[in-house]
This record gives sequence, C-alpha cells and structure tokens, in this order.
Amino acid sequence: MGIDPGVSAAPAPLRDPRVRLNQGTEIPMLGLGVYQSPPGPVTQQAVSWALELGYRHIDTATLYENEADVGQAVRASHIPREEVFVTTKLWHTEQGFERSQRAARASLDRLGLSYIDLYLIHSPRANSPQDRIDSWKGLEELQREGVCRAIGVSNYTVRHLEELAASSKTVPAVNQVEFHPFVYDPDLADYCERRGIRLEAWAPLTRGLRFEDATVSTIARAHGRTPAQILLRWGIEHGFIVLPKSVHRERIAENAQIFDFSLTRDEVTRLDGLRGGGGVSRMNPAQIP
Ligand SMILES: NC(=O)c1ccc[n+]([C@@H]2O[C@H](COP(=O)([O-])OP(=O)(O)OC[C@H]3O[C@@H](n4cnc5c(N)ncnc54)[C@H](OP(=O)(O)O)[C@@H]3O)[C@@H](O)[C@H]2O)c1
Repeated sequence: MGIDPGVSAAPAPLRDPRVRLNQGTEIPMLGLGVYQSPPGPVTQQAVSWALELGYRHIDTATLYENEADVGQAVRASHIPREEVFVTTKLWHTEQGFERSQRAARASLDRLGLSYIDLYLIHSPRANSPQDRIDSWKGLEELQREGVCRAIGVSNYTVRHLEELAASSKTVPAVNQVEFHPFVYDPDLADYCERRGIRLEAWAPLTRGLRFEDATVSTIARAHGRTPAQILLRWGIEHGFIVLPKSVHRERIAENAQIFDFSLTRDEVTRLDGLRGGGGVSRMNPAQIP
C-alpha cells in the first residue's frame, strides 16, 4: 500500500474487490453511505472510522449537507487521494447545463479535494426531460475538464436510461438505485449489465427494517453472520456495489466483514424471491416523467 512520504499513520486497506467502470476508473465494491449522517463531528468520525477499518469509498451528496465533513476526514486520513473513491451528487434543483457545472464545482469546494471520483445526477426529477439531458451534457463537460473522473445517474428507470442514450454517446458509469432483495428488479439489473452500467445499491440494509425477515435470518443463522452481512453479501453476489450507512464503529466494521464468505446459488435465489416485498422510500422513480 502507498503511504504519503513522511506519514506513518495511514491504516491498512480492507481487502475488498474493486471493479472497473465503463469509463475507466476502478471503484471499490463497498462504500460507506452518509445519508442522514449529521453534518459535523459525527460524519467526520464515521468516515474516519471507515477509512481506518479499510473502507476506500464514501458516498455523499449535496443533499446530505456533509460533503465538507467527508472531505475533511479524507484529507485528515493521510491516505493518498488516489486510493479513496469519493462520490457526490447533483440535487434536482440544480439540473441544467450551466447549473449542473456550477453545482459540481461548489461540491468540489466543499469537499476540499482536487477532483470528484464519481458525480451523479441524484434523480431523474427535473423541470423537464430536456433539463436532465442538459445536465448530462454539463456532466460530460465536467468530466472533460477533470472536475470528475466518472459520471453517472441515480434512481433512473430503463425509460430514463433510454432517453439519455438517445441524446448522448456517454454511457453512465453507474446507476445508483434502491436495491436489496425486497425491491430487486432483475429487468433493470439485466438492462444495466447489457449496457455496461454498474448498479450501485442504496439502502442495501433496508435501513434495518427487514432484519427479522424469516428467509434473511435463517440464512444468517446458517452462516453464523448477521442479517446486515447477509443483505450486503447478496448484493456482492450479484455484482452490485453496496453502500451501507452507519455512524457506529462496530457496525461500520460489521458491514465490511462480507468478503470472507459467500452465499450458495440456492440462497441467492431464495433472497431474490423476496422481491416485491417493498422498499424503504416513498419515492417512485417510475412516476417521474
Ligand atoms: N441515490 C439516492 O437517491 C440515495 C437514497 C438513499 C441512500 N443513498 C445512499 O445509500 C446509502 C445507504 O442507504 P441508507 O442510508 O438509506 O440505508 P441503509 O444503509 O440500508 O441503512 C442505514 C441504517 O441502518 C443502520 N445500520 C447500519 N449498519 C447496521 C448494522 N450492522 N446493524 C444494524 N443496523 C445498522 C444505520 O444506523 P446507524 O447509523 O445508527 O448505525 C441506519 O439507520 C446512503 O447513506 C446514501 O449514501 C442514496
């Protein structure tokens, strides 16, 4: 592992796999989510713990109001910048060609980093479909200028992805959507796989709402693992990037212990069978015109 000259405090990286995105950069399959992680010392501490425990990927957004804390913790870690993968997102009120570029530069300022690894359109919500097409052109410009290394989308349905494909040759590097066994959408997963778009799973822990589910807890007992670890491992088995959020050190550690066991094909199929069980959010991207 590379360490900044003169710095001896950098922690050892966790052995989590990285995958190459269609735009060239590599991304760790496990990232710390920081939605509802309060701005200030709590987020700084959570990110510091995660980096100490070996996470190398943090998922924030303008909406979360904690980009400055994420950047502060990344800088304070003394881990070389190129080893840490930082994602942030464009909020829907800033959709548009020029607005999206201004918003990304403001995010970069708040992060206090020299570039963003992955910049996402947070949701297809916009004043008009043209606005989101213009945002994408803004993101392409940002990527050309090196403000962000990769660009992608979030909460896009196949229809939104097709709309984007009709107006641009740049295929999104990722689509970040709510994905866990209870909202698993194999059609969206297949579509993204065919086009080389990597799926990122938000709320991969179902926000803790489904830990008691009989299938999840039976499989957890069979492996001597926690329901959280089973839900995350399910995502990894499918090739999804998982973004569990926690502000507790022991949970951040627990959520990273998912690369030393695997689920059987039958267990994955049983978990897949839970789909239709309902998501954690009232937002339904399919209703966004
Ligand atoms: N693109 C989007 O529209 C979008 C939407 C939502 C989320 N996201 C991203 O995805 C990330 C994850 O989603 P999420 O935060 O909504 O939900 P989540 O990761 O499924 O669940 C987080 C909740 O689970 C708890 N938790 C974490 N680890 C646990 C464990 N091992 N045992 C028991 N409870 C545990 C956390 O509590 P404590 O913190 O108290 O430990 C928190 O309440 C977000 O943080 C964000 O980065 C993106």
